[in-house]
Amino acid sequence: MIFVTGGAGFIGSNFVLDWLAQSDEPVINFDKLTYAGNLNNLTSINQDPRHIFVQGDICDTALVATLLATHKPRAIVHFAAESHVDRSIHGPGEFVTTNINGTFSLLEAARAYWSGLDDAGKAAFRFLHVSTDEVYGTLGPDDAPFTETTTYAPNSPYSASKAASDHLVRSYHHTYGLPTLTTNCSNNYGPYHFPEKLIPLIITNARAGKPLPIYGDGQQVRDWLYVSDHCAAIRRVLEAGRLGETYNVGGWNEKANLDVVHTLCDILDQLDPKESASPFKGEAGSGMGSYRDQITYVTDRPGHDRRYAIDARKIERELGWKPAETFETGIRKTVQWYLDNQEWVRDVQSGDYLNWVAKNYQQRDENRGDKLGTA
Ligand code: NAD
Ligand code: DAU
Repeated sequence: MIFVTGGAGFIGSNFVLDWLAQSDEPVINFDKLTYAGNLNNLTSINQDPRHIFVQGDICDTALVATLLATHKPRAIVHFAAESHVDRSIHGPGEFVTTNINGTFSLLEAARAYWSGLDDAGKAAFRFLHVSTDEVYGTLGPDDAPFTETTTYAPNSPYSASKAASDHLVRSYHHTYGLPTLTTNCSNNYGPYHFPEKLIPLIITNARAGKPLPIYGDGQQVRDWLYVSDHCAAIRRVLEAGRLGETYNVGGWNEKANLDVVHTLCDILDQLDPKESASPFKGEAGSGMGSYRDQITYVTDRPGHDRRYAIDARKIERELGWKPAETFETGIRKTVQWYLDNQEWVRDVQSGDYLNWVAKNYQQRDENRGDKLGTA
């Protein structure tokens, strides 16, 4: 079996669902269930004996050690993290605790467990660390995309904490021989994405008639990857990745934020037209009765990275992975998923979510829309 951390979060739950759809190998799903962890993501497998959920903290080395000794997994796939850049700006402490100390604790438990395996078990074991392209910092408009040898230059407390965790993983391979693998992926999107992040925030705010907040000028560029493509990349690296190596994973899909938001509004205009007296109701880009009317420019994120782009040629060359979805297919599926899963949306938007929205958005200057226009 495999031991997955953070398997109740966005990517982790997609990974667990994909894994059990494609393999009979059981999964121990170890998750603290922070605000971002959601057992509703896993309802389709809650009676499945191949899925064993354990609530716990990766900082709890003793609990992890007991679970490893009991279940004897052949691999650890480590997703658990604090993952939202804006939250890391408001409160970096949790990011240091989970992303750095937590990864350290997990590595210690893994090292002790791995050291006690027989030779065959040692050789087969893998520790796969799921990381981000944000560790490489920011690119100018004409810079080449990030490769695996790009110098680390993290700019937010989130990316700095992920960079630190990457370095710890690297050191455990070089110093102790722990069979590690690291993936550095670009921005994911798809089902079960928590609506604090841009794409699900825009879909849910649009439908609720709320402002669609664009930080700064909206020309920041991200490289978007549909989440199931990321899951496939992780499975492939786990299967055949070279020990101690890192693999960049990306969608070859660079988009400016404003273009992403326009695309979302246009798809929603088609699939779920706004109630409006306009004769142009539902017509993409008409400006009348369109969700685009809700776009609001707000004060930028401090230290906002301008552009990320991944050079994913190494994983394609060595392991034969490349994304199956284009942005056009993936984004349409994503919007449809949110339209079809209103109950899931209502559930995650209750309670603490509202406190976060108030904290992150109320202090931003919403008049910037008047200065910048909304087209
Ligand atoms: P997420 O915030 O949706 O989920 C994180 C999960 O980790 C949650 O289920 C949470 O309960 C759990 N968790 C948090 N702290 C924990 C702790 N101390 N112990 C155990 N569990 C804990 O995050 P995500 O977007 O699914 O990202 C998963 C991983 O992928 C992260 O490591 C992130 O850095 C990385 N990543 C994310 C993206 C992206 O676009 N979302 C892209 C590249 C890499
Ligand atoms: O690049 C990979 C990273 O992608 C992951 O490591 C992170 O865990 C993940 O959260 C994501 O980080 P970003 O900061 O790029 O994602 P987010 O969805 O928060 O923002 C995407 C872009 O949209 C970014 O340029 C900020 C902007 N934005 C975001 C929000 C929430 C807005 O303009 N308005 C918003 O309200």
